[in-house]
Amino acid sequence: MRKKINIAIDGYSSCGKSTLAKSIAKELNYIYIDTGAMYRAMTLFALKSHLIRNDELNVDKLKAMIDSAYITFKYNTDTKRSETHLNGKNVEKEIRSMQVSKFVSPVAAIPEVRMKLVKLQQRMAEVRGVVMDGRDIGTVVLPDAEVKFFMTADPEVRAQRRFNELKNNGLEVTYEEVLENVKQRDQIDSTRSTDPLRQAEDAVVVDNSNLTMDEQFVFAMNHVNKVLAVPS
Ligand code: DC
Repeated sequence: MRKKINIAIDGYSSCGKSTLAKSIAKELNYIYIDTGAMYRAMTLFALKSHLIRNDELNVDKLKAMIDSAYITFKYNTDTKRSETHLNGKNVEKEIRSMQVSKFVSPVAAIPEVRMKLVKLQQRMAEVRGVVMDGRDIGTVVLPDAEVKFFMTADPEVRAQRRFNELKNNGLEVTYEEVLENVKQRDQIDSTRSTDPLRQAEDAVVVDNSNLTMDEQFVFAMNHVNKVLAVPS
């Protein structure tokens, strides 16, 4: 039987991590885990629990209530996708709203939130044969992953992609609003003190500002296949 490896994909907001991760997972018949969705679900939990008022996040209350947020993924046979659930309810769509995007970076900067979610992510990857995307996968969650990619693209290119995606989902946003959010999240995610976004030393960089999805997929699979070809 072919060996199973773990693949870590990190990078800036909206640079196509999930598109690449999903296509690799499909190709190899691996499990895809979207860790950003877990931080988004925690943010939705804070919003629903009224821990964010007048743009202020009540960090202490969130820390105290953290264990009441039960975050899972369930496979949806209709959409053929694994979808995020918060306390038993499907929140896959809700967690993509601008309201959640606006507060997710401060929530993800809380060490107690990270500790809980990192532990959950490590448990999910124990089976191996996992493609996981996020900000700290290659550095903190799965430092032993056999393949690591670090993805990047110009902020304007990323904002345009995110804007198109939100519009396609019927959400009312402006391009400027999305660009501002992308830049702000880059800043918070890469400067926070706990597990900031940074490139793992052994990661392969994928700058997809000028790459099509097919080109990026071929590039990534070449690397993955090389690693898979090495006998374990
Ligand atoms: O991948 P995304 O844009 O859906 O992630 C949402 C936010 O969650 C992002 O701004 C940073 C945070 N995040 C994180 O801190 N660590 C991860 N492993 C994944 C996401």
